[in-house]
Amino acid sequence: MTPTPNAGSTTPDSFSATPSPTPPNPTSATRAFYDAIAEDYAERNRDELAAKPLERAVLGAYAELVGAGGRVADLGCGPGRVTGFLGARGLDVCGLDLSESMLAVARRENPAIRFERGSMLELDFADGSLAGAVSFYSSIHTPVENLPALFAEFHRVLAPGGHLLLAFQVGDEPRHFDRPWGHPVALDFERRRPERMAELLTAAGFAVLWHTVREPVLGESTPHAFLIARRPAAPDS
Ligand SMILES: C[S@@+](CC[C@H](N)C(=O)[O-])C[C@H]1O[C@@H](n2cnc3c(N)ncnc32)[C@H](O)[C@@H]1O
Repeated sequence: MTPTPNAGSTTPDSFSATPSPTPPNPTSATRAFYDAIAEDYAERNRDELAAKPLERAVLGAYAELVGAGGRVADLGCGPGRVTGFLGARGLDVCGLDLSESMLAVARRENPAIRFERGSMLELDFADGSLAGAVSFYSSIHTPVENLPALFAEFHRVLAPGGHLLLAFQVGDEPRHFDRPWGHPVALDFERRRPERMAELLTAAGFAVLWHTVREPVLGESTPHAFLIARRPAAPDS
């Protein structure tokens, strides 16, 4: 089936969806998918934040909460559009992604920012070393059974008082995207319930500060959720 992103939106949520098997290893399937589509994804999403004031408001509020000074990691940064946005708001931000092709775009488009290859599930950051961690639509390929381990890893790398930002599509069923923009790859995109994500974050030791859902815009097929949580400050000793 020909991929036909909906007019006005080029997020993955607007790829055409057809049933076909996703390769069994979710990490290598995710890497292969984004390696194949990196240039198209970057081109089609380059101006997306400019067209989405609510996303800009969420990212701006998050940047204020974290404040200048500490280190922030954009985990699953893709082409670095969010990394660049946060860097422009004064955060000391770096990017990390599975996909070397996405990282090549991110480095090209944000030459002042450091981008590294790695997995969010095994972060190469010391315990408590980050003031902020961002996962903007990057937990959507993590199988639900691995979310507790993912959130435990986010909790481990954040300093007490550090802030986490999650964005994801809302829903109950995954969507399977096949041959995006004609590339011979396929991948499942999970939809989640914000209340369930908040429960899992609480179980991982986070205090959930805020979560909200906005309705679909610009051809999207689902509402989108944004959630900010904090690793509680260490008790006075
Ligand atoms: C939908 S894109 C979002 C990219 C970017 N955050 C944005 O908002 O434009 C998902 C990105 O998450 C990355 N990703 C998914 N799972 C990952 C993991 N376990 N570790 C690191 N990156 C991951 C993918 O390679 C891809 O670049």
